[in-house]
Amino acid sequence: MGWEIARDDSLTAESIAAYLVGDTEQTPLNAGQKTIFVYESVVSTNDMAKELAADGAPAGTAVVANRQTAGRGRMGRSFYSPPDSGVYLSVILRPKLTGSRILLLTTGAAVAAAEAVEESCGARMQIKWVNDLYLGGKKIAGILTEAVGGAYIVGIGVNVKESGEGFPAELAGKAGALDAGGAQVSRSRLAAALIEGVRRMGKDLEEGGGHYTGRLIEEARKRSCVLGREVQITGAEGLSAARAVDIDDQGFLIVEDSRGRRHTLSSGEISLFVK
Ligand code: BTN
Repeated sequence: MGWEIARDDSLTAESIAAYLVGDTEQTPLNAGQKTIFVYESVVSTNDMAKELAADGAPAGTAVVANRQTAGRGRMGRSFYSPPDSGVYLSVILRPKLTGSRILLLTTGAAVAAAEAVEESCGARMQIKWVNDLYLGGKKIAGILTEAVGGAYIVGIGVNVKESGEGFPAELAGKAGALDAGGAQVSRSRLAAALIEGVRRMGKDLEEGGGHYTGRLIEEARKRSCVLGREVQITGAEGLSAARAVDIDDQGFLIVEDSRGRRHTLSSGEISLFVK
């Protein structure tokens, strides 16, 4: 598949703002309110967003970069973030959530990101619990949600196209890019859809009650590439392999071991067994 991306696919605050449609409160670049900061290169957009949040930046503030020099993933891993190839962004949320509803942020971010990708280029994304996005059996996007003070940072990295050098050896065969599936992608449109989707999700989680949560979990189940399959589990003591059977109302993964006993995983890492 050749380059299908628009010729001028540079990411700027203006190019992203041109695609912001959903929220009448926001005009392009409205100063001080839900600002979108766009950078050519940063260490990590999550790190920048954390600093902004600590300085009191309001919910909805977003940081977008064309490149990250040390993008971070879950479990202390790095996230490969070469220039001109992906969308790397973080959104600050300040939802007033208590108890287990806070855990739904992770599921909410995965569903919001999957829907945003689909809305901007038509690709049907699957979710590998808890919040990696897959297309055609390859990881296309990862999400890192972090807490700082009273705020949450939702960081999303999407591989839009493979960079000239290709993926590093450790990602070869596992990572993929959106345009490999034939999708035509404007990175600005994708960034706008992701930012709006995450902002909306934060609001809905706070205000939407059980109806919204029910829809969220249903969508997570529908998009899951894990349910019904054998998975390998890291970080759950005494349990290394099981069959994924459901996602419960709180976004936890229910697995069944070889003796038919059910276990609930709230976090941790799973890999799919290749059969
Ligand atoms: C994962 O795959 O484990 C999660 C990857 C999350 C990557 C995104 S890119 C934007 C934001 N900034 C970071 O440093 N990480 C997240």
